[in-house]
Amino acid sequence: MTPPAESLGSPWPGGAAEVAGLHPGGDPGELDRELRAQAWRAVEAASATVNADPWRQVFHVQPPAGLLNDPNGLVQHNGTYHLCYQWHPFGPRHALKFWAHLTSSDMVHWSEPAIALAPSEPYESHGCYSGSGIVAEDTVRFFYTGNVRTPDGGRTPFQLTAELDASGLLTKHPANPLVAALPGCTGHVRDPKVWSDEQGYWMLLGAQTDDLHGTALLLRSDDGDDWHLLGPIAGGAGDPLGYMWECPDLIRLDGRDVLAISPQFDHGTAAPMRWEDVSLYAVGALRSQPPRFDRATEFRRIDHGPDFYAPQSFVTEDGRTIMIGWMGMPDHDGQPSLADKHPSAANGWVHCLTVPRELSLAGDELVQQPVRELAALRGTPVQRAEVVEIVADAASATLVASGAALDLELSVTCREGGSVMVRLRDGAAASPVLLTIDPHRGTATLDRTLLATGEGGVFTGRFRPGASTTLRILLDHSSLEVFVDGGRLAMSARIYPTSSDDQVTVTAVGEAARLTVTAWPMVAA
Ligand code: FRU
Repeated sequence: MTPPAESLGSPWPGGAAEVAGLHPGGDPGELDRELRAQAWRAVEAASATVNADPWRQVFHVQPPAGLLNDPNGLVQHNGTYHLCYQWHPFGPRHALKFWAHLTSSDMVHWSEPAIALAPSEPYESHGCYSGSGIVAEDTVRFFYTGNVRTPDGGRTPFQLTAELDASGLLTKHPANPLVAALPGCTGHVRDPKVWSDEQGYWMLLGAQTDDLHGTALLLRSDDGDDWHLLGPIAGGAGDPLGYMWECPDLIRLDGRDVLAISPQFDHGTAAPMRWEDVSLYAVGALRSQPPRFDRATEFRRIDHGPDFYAPQSFVTEDGRTIMIGWMGMPDHDGQPSLADKHPSAANGWVHCLTVPRELSLAGDELVQQPVRELAALRGTPVQRAEVVEIVADAASATLVASGAALDLELSVTCREGGSVMVRLRDGAAASPVLLTIDPHRGTATLDRTLLATGEGGVFTGRFRPGASTTLRILLDHSSLEVFVDGGRLAMSARIYPTSSDDQVTVTAVGEAARLTVTAWPMVAA
């Protein structure tokens, strides 16, 4: 699967060398040093503006400057968690991608980012794209995609590997590229998710078939270096779902397999919304001969909020399965600009990751709960399991907490026909985000339309109906993650509220309601 030599080593316009101002086809070592030096200079130049931004998060992973997208390379080794992310350091836009690398002993307090990968080799001239991490022979190995653009605008993807040494430095493997073009696919083949078991190493790749359908490809290897394509496991013309699948993941829970994918759809110019990207999962069983994912369920959304994409999972040393998502979405032509959707871009940075979420299955349903370690950031509670009786349709809302970074646990009980509206970032500007919980209908509705900046939109998710339900809300300076019904429903959204408005208020709609509320201010990670 090694490409012919002539497809490597030649210059490509617009690539890393051009960005660094060096001669294309020059020494990769020099290019690597130059890219890293320039990246840190860009961060330094932006830092005063970035750090003064009121929308900077306090307990979510965010870039020091520039643009973050997918989480990459999640793995734990000898107690240390490794987290990487797609990073463009030179400004808040999608352009030449690096890998940033952070470590932690608790998934909550992360180190300052280092540069894991700079796109300095010819096989990654237009970016080090997404991938995963594993522990192999007592070292951490990352697998990722080298993005190479051709002068005619096409792309040639290469699947690559790099090893982390004890000093935290990464060495790109001399056998790179491990995998080049694959039969039956366009140039859209990327995002290797690798795992190992007693049979060897496995790789899932997101891909687009020659007839423009999304698919996931399964590959196998005895040693992690020499890979053989087994074939597609789902999607394609026989099972159509979008034109491209990004960031596939295979998650094992309770002895069952969960396939996670991020398919992309083009609904055509006549559709009210042309482009749609979404992260989905199905429960089933992965077979390798012939390669196939036998689905026991349909594909369902992993998260029902507007900002969740390209999640990746890993298994901790104590056996928990953790998932982190990008709290952002791809951009497409014809949509509002990135700066309109995310006004932090004007201050030099954009996007963040979700908190790590512990996964489990309840029947066929994926359950997501913020990792328990997050409790380390809780300050003294401002409300402790206080019972609040709220009269129906009161003229003014009941204040339950104040703060721009909060962890809230609520239980909500309503009469038939009644619902509870939680107003987040409420105050004088009267531009809160509204979260309406109707337990009897089993619906949670997130409404961003009152916000003065950023994207609006109304989003609804479903949970098991009944008189009561539980709610966990993680509010950071510019994001909201909501977990309803013990985590059976998750909703993630970026919000850009008025900085002086920091109240959480509640109203009962239609009928009186009863709440218990515990609210903790979150201290900076
Ligand atoms: C998903 C994605 C991946 C790709 C990466 C590039 O958001 O498009 O498919 O590897 O981002 O940054």
